Amino acid sequence: MYYMSIPITLFSVWIVWIGSFWIPLQFYRANLRAANRVRRTDLLRRLGRDSKDQRLVGFFHPYCNAGGGGERVLWTAIAALQRSEPNIVSIVYSGDTDASKDEIISKVKARFDINLDPKGLDFVFLTSRKFIEDSTWPVGSMYLAWEAMSKLIPDLYIDTMGYAFTFHVVSLLAGIPIGAYVHYPTISTNMLNRVKSRKRGYTNSDAISSSTFLSQGKLLYYRFFMYYYAVSLRSSAFIMVNSSWTQNHINSILQHSDTLLDTLHLLTPLWMLSSSKYGSATSAQIVYPPCDTREMSRYPLTGRDRVILSLAQFRPEKDHPTQLRAFKQLLKDHPEYAGAERPVKLVLIGGSRNPDDEARSNVEFIVNASYPTMLSWLARASIGFSTMVDEHFGINVVEFMAAGLIPVAHKSGGPLQDIIVPFNGQPTGYHAESVEGFAEALQTALSLSNEEDLAVRQRARTWAVQRFSEEEFEKGWNASGWKSFLPSN
Ligand SMILES: *[C@@H]1O[C@H](CO)[C@@H](O)[C@H](O)[C@H]1NC(C)=O
Ligand SMILES: *[C@@H]1O[C@H](CO)[C@@H](O)[C@H](O)[C@H]1NC(C)=O
Ligand SMILES: *[C@@H]1O[C@H](CO)[C@@H](O)[C@H](O)[C@H]1NC(C)=O
Repeated sequence: MYYMSIPITLFSVWIVWIGSFWIPLQFYRANLRAANRVRRTDLLRRLGRDSKDQRLVGFFHPYCNAGGGGERVLWTAIAALQRSEPNIVSIVYSGDTDASKDEIISKVKARFDINLDPKGLDFVFLTSRKFIEDSTWPVGSMYLAWEAMSKLIPDLYIDTMGYAFTFHVVSLLAGIPIGAYVHYPTISTNMLNRVKSRKRGYTNSDAISSSTFLSQGKLLYYRFFMYYYAVSLRSSAFIMVNSSWTQNHINSILQHSDTLLDTLHLLTPLWMLSSSKYGSATSAQIVYPPCDTREMSRYPLTGRDRVILSLAQFRPEKDHPTQLRAFKQLLKDHPEYAGAERPVKLVLIGGSRNPDDEARSNVEFIVNASYPTMLSWLARASIGFSTMVDEHFGINVVEFMAAGLIPVAHKSGGPLQDIIVPFNGQPTGYHAESVEGFAEALQTALSLSNEEDLAVRQRARTWAVQRFSEEEFEKGWNASGWKSFLPSN
């Protein structure tokens, strides 16, 4: 009789699950949807809209008031929607309970110069954002999504902050189509490989990698995490990503398979969590984030100061020491650059608390520069310098190019794959990997003939401005097909 015990156990799990979870869930769901009809009508009335033919697109963006690159993506998408789809109301799920709708809208105007129509936009304020504050534990975001859905269910849900685990809650409670704009994957295959090979890394401290037991535990956690992250992503109908780097990772996660966990998943009732009828994305599409290059693209291309400009926050991964070493090497190879005749200067904006400034005489640090100060350097510097390895995107490099600087960046990540790429078969800037390589690339850029110099700047600007424009961004959203997932009543 022993062989019978597994099916009996499984069967009991099923019964317990259905009785204690599935049936109550159905009741809860029916109640929620009934209440939602009232909420929805109220909302549309408050916005002065007739409730016929209106659609709600919900954007899950708990930090919508943060004013960073991710927020620019959010607001540009909503503004585009407002221009082209008068019958759509955008709903933003925000945890910024200390700001009002009007305050957020005016901050968006001040920060990004994006105009939002208050009649086509509303906010659902979430009070439990604290659960996602300093932990990547997925349950926090699922709880937050539950709060979101219990306050208002839209017709289409789009996560713009990378909380893929919320998809289970949304499809379970709301049963609506889901999409995502992903800036970076929550877990990467590199991370998984690192634990497997027990290498040291950012996310894996010494103590853990030296202990097999802890490492096994962590690997198991990652394995589950990875599996359910893939399951989550596949339950969305469309996925957009902001760069080639993110696309490579998301695509490989979408292909991820794990026979053991697959079997467990199907045997236990967990599969119900991921049975979205609107799934399932199989690959991600790149939609480059729009960069506001309007002002800088008007700066003159000629008559620039011999300034090498670095624009990066003071963080170890930006690798400021390599910039200083490369610059020192450049001055060593070309002593005339240090003198008064043809001086070349390195300017680092962003900040450095303990500069390793071996070449201090020609180096200037500008800490916490204001936006106008930064722009004034972009208007006069000659070369834009970025040394970060595997930068996912590199908006500073786009800004260099739009402003008319010749970019010199690390030969990896976004600057290699997406940004400093040939335009009409001709170079738009330079890549390097080592201190010597950077010194050479700087020298190449400094010693171009006047004609070549102008041609590189022109190409770099034309390319950056068109490739990372709002129009390209909007085309990308259109191409994602989000509209086809909006239900017609
Ligand atoms: C795209 O996502 C990456 C994270 O992978 C982020 O570093 C970068 O700033 C994003 N780009 C923009 C312009 O928002
Ligand atoms: C720069 O700004 C940060 C945070 O806003 C602050 O902590 C730091 O002290 C500032 N540094 C300087 C040199 O102003
Ligand atoms: C995107 O589609 C809308 C119609 O849905 C259209 O009005 C708009 O011009 C399109 N945008 C671009 C850049 O193609």
